[in-house]
Amino acid sequence: MDKKLFKEQLLRELYEPYRKCMKCPLATQGRTTVVFGEGNADADLMIIGEGPGRDEDAQGRPFVGRSGQLLTRTLQALGQSRENVFITNIVKCRPPENRVPTDQESATCKQLLLAKQIKIVQPALICTLGSTALRHLINEEVKITSMRGKIIDKDDLRLFPTYHPAFILRNPGQLPIFTDDLRHAIELAKKLKAK
Ligand code: URA
Repeated sequence: MDKKLFKEQLLRELYEPYRKCMKCPLATQGRTTVVFGEGNADADLMIIGEGPGRDEDAQGRPFVGRSGQLLTRTLQALGQSRENVFITNIVKCRPPENRVPTDQESATCKQLLLAKQIKIVQPALICTLGSTALRHLINEEVKITSMRGKIIDKDDLRLFPTYHPAFILRNPGQLPIFTDDLRHAIELAKKLKAK
C-alpha cells in the first residue's frame, strides 16, 4: 500500500475511539466536535497550534476562523497549500471562552492523540504556533519572542517555533516576521526530508 494511504488509515484508526472522547474536562465544557487535525498524512511539515476556537469547533476543522485564515493566506503567499502540510493542535477540543488549555488537559491530549499523530506522520519539522504549543512539546516555560525562528531539538523532535496567528491579528506589524518564520519552516522541512 502507498505510504500516504497507509498513514491516513493509521490516523483514522487512531481517531476512531476518541470521536466522543471523555478523557479530560474539556469534554463537558461546551465542545461539540473533537477537531483532530487535517492535511497531508505524509507531510514534511506539521503545524501545531493551541486548541480549536468557535469556528473550528463548529466545522470540525483546525485553523478555519480568523487566525486560521491568516495562516492559510500566509502559507499560500509562500506557495505552500495548506493541504500539503499537516495541521493540528495541542488539545483537540475547544476550551470554553478560548481560555488556555490547562496542563492536565494538554498532557492528556498530547499523550492520547498528538504524540501518536507525530509518530504516524513523522514530519521532518514541526512548526509550533505560539507559546502554549511550544511549552507542551518541550515541557519547559518558554519565551516565544526570544525562541521563535530557531530550531529546537527536543528528544527526537525537531521544532521551529513562531508566533500564533492570533497574536499577529492583534499586532499586524509582526506579520513580516511571522511570514519569514513560516518561509524558513517550509524550506527547512523540505531540506530535512530530502536528506
Ligand atoms: N487557534 C488555534 O490554536 N488553533 C486553531 O485551530 C484555531 C485557532
